This record gives sequence, structure tokens and C-alpha cells, in this order.
Amino acid sequence: MPKAKITAVAGYVPEKILSNSDLEKIMDTNDEWIRTRTGIVERRVMAEDEAVSHMGEKVVAQILEKSGTAPEEIELLICATCTGDYILPDTANNICYKSGLTKAFGFDINAACSGFVFALYTASQFIQTGRYKKIIVIGGEKMTSYMNYEDRTTSILFGDGGGGVLLEPDEEYGVIDAILKGDGYGCQLLKVEAGGSLYPMNQERLDAKKNFVTQDGRQVFRRAVNGMSSTIKEVMERNNLTADEISWVVPHQANERIINAVGDALDFPKERIMLNIAKYGNTSAGTIPLCLWEYEDQLKKGDNVILTAFGGGFTWGSLYLKWAY
Ligand code: COA
Repeated sequence: MPKAKITAVAGYVPEKILSNSDLEKIMDTNDEWIRTRTGIVERRVMAEDEAVSHMGEKVVAQILEKSGTAPEEIELLICATCTGDYILPDTANNICYKSGLTKAFGFDINAACSGFVFALYTASQFIQTGRYKKIIVIGGEKMTSYMNYEDRTTSILFGDGGGGVLLEPDEEYGVIDAILKGDGYGCQLLKVEAGGSLYPMNQERLDAKKNFVTQDGRQVFRRAVNGMSSTIKEVMERNNLTADEISWVVPHQANERIINAVGDALDFPKERIMLNIAKYGNTSAGTIPLCLWEYEDQLKKGDNVILTAFGGGFTWGSLYLKWAY
């Protein structure tokens, strides 16, 4: 069976910066608290008239240019997002339309912050069948649309942005294995309560600010450390990999302390754990492609890379791939 190898990476973040000192001016917080508790220094904010499809369009344009691919060669586009442009329709199709991917079909995957890993593994199955040869996987969000800037425990964490990859078949390099997990117990611990079919938006829910992300930060923290480190261990064992053989771990960027705890649990050196949370905060499904984009020059052909994520749902998992260029 062919493997799905990554042949191009792209990223996009909006220009507008929301720094910790900007937040100090609108809520009872301070730069020192945010840095030491989360590792975040600033995050990006999309313009009011910009959303996930705009990010996706820019990411697709970069991917096509970098890889010398014509738009009509793309057969499928999967967009991992929990903040798509609309509740209906999906965002992937709109990205295909805006990008001139006239031969592609598209669909969204919502696995919150695990979305990119879930989407990448889903896309890799389409390649493995031998039926599809060129697939784009995007992960990205406009999280700031769902932030209550009166809630200092959550709004300081999230930002906007994302990225994507092109997948093509290969005999040797690419996605080798993944362990993906879920536990609906987490449903109540990290959510946007209103605006869906259970609690459609009305004035009362708007007044109660039910249109924003709320979470139990401490429980999420513990479950994130455990979920990411346990699935990394599992995927390493299943593929007979030692820590020395892993070139890079690419963790979802939720909190630098979570990332450090995962590294410690695995006895994995910090220099080989991708980290850019200081600049972008948590962009949910966007964090992993943004890391790959920023570290692209440091990746080498044949590198063993493990992507790992945890998010609302709860959803979590780790994916093992061999870098192809
Ligand atoms: N600025 C200043 N003080 C703050 C603050 C802020 N932005 N947010 C919370 N505090 C205060 C709390 O009110 C509390 O004060 P108290 O002791 O007087 O009650 C104190 O800081 C400690 O709060 P606590 O919630 O215990 O902090 P924490 O170390 O657990 O950090 C999070 C809070 C949210 C940063 C942390 O729990 C976290 O990152 N959790 C994971 C969240 C996440 O990643 N979600 C997405 C997953 S994909």
C-alpha cells in the first residue's frame, strides 16, 4: 500500500498582534502571569471580515506554488476546524471554490485541537487505497470569534491562524501509523455551549455569553499531558522506536507547561520538540501545521516525526510519519 507523504507545507497568520500587554489593558491579568503559566507572549487576530476560508485560500495558494501543482490536480481538500466560516455549509468546499480547485471535493473535520492530526490520518487513508494522488489537508481557526475577553482564564490562551500540507503517494516516506482516541466525558469540560442545535442562539444565551469558549482549565491540563504522552508512548512501542530515533515531536501548542510535561514524561530533549506558542498562542487545529511551516528548514528527509494533539471532545492522539524531503 502506498504511504501518504507530505510534499509541501504552508502557513498563514493574520498581521494583527494581540500581546499580553494589550490584554493587561482590557482585563485583570499581567504579562508575567501569562508567560509563566502558559509560555504565550502574543497571539494573532483575524480582521472582522476575515475567516477560516480566507486563511485556507492563502495556504492553498502557497502549497500550489511551492509544489508546482495546478489547482485542477487537487482531488480532495480536508479542512480541520471548529471555527469554520458558517455552521452550514462546510469551509473546505468554500476554500476549494475560492482557490479554483475545480476537480476537488472537500469536507471539514471537527476534532477541535486534535483536528489536524485526525484530518491528516483520514486523508492518508484515501492515499493508501491508491485511488487518490493529491490531497490538501488544512488546519486552522479564527478562535478569537469565540473568546470572552472578560474571562481571563481562557481568552488569554487562544489566537487565529493555521496551515496545511500537500499529500502524495510514496513507497517509503510518509504517514506510517497513528493512534487516535476520544472520550465524550470531556464534552462538558471544554465547549462553546450555544449556537448549535441543542442550544440555538437567542438573546438570553447571548446575554449569558454562552457563545464563547469555556473550560475547566485544570482538568484539561491534566488530561492533555496524559493523552499526548500516553499515545506517543503507544505509537513508539508499536513501531519499535526509541526516543533517540525520533527526530522531532510536534505537539499541539496549548500551553508550554503541558508541552514540557509531555517532554519530561517521555524523557525527550527540548531541542527536538517544536515550539512556537510564544508567538501565536493556541490556534487549535492550526498549531501543528504552523509548527511544521516554521520548522520546515530544519526537517530532513528520513526524519522520524511524531505529531501529537489533545483537544475538546475530548479528542487526542499521536501520528508517526517519515519526513519526505
Ligand atoms: N491572569 C492572572 N491571574 C489569573 C489568570 C490570568 N489570565 N487566569 C487565572 N488567574 C488566577 C486564578 O484566578 C487563580 O487565582 P486564585 O488562586 O486567587 O484563585 C490563579 O491564577 C491560579 O489559577 P489556576 O486556574 O489554578 O491556574 P493554572 O496554573 O491552572 O493555569 C490555565 C490556568 C488555564 C492557564 C491552565 O490550567 C491551562 O493551560 N489549562 C489547559 C487549558 C487548555 O490548554 N485548553 C485548551 C486545550 S486544547
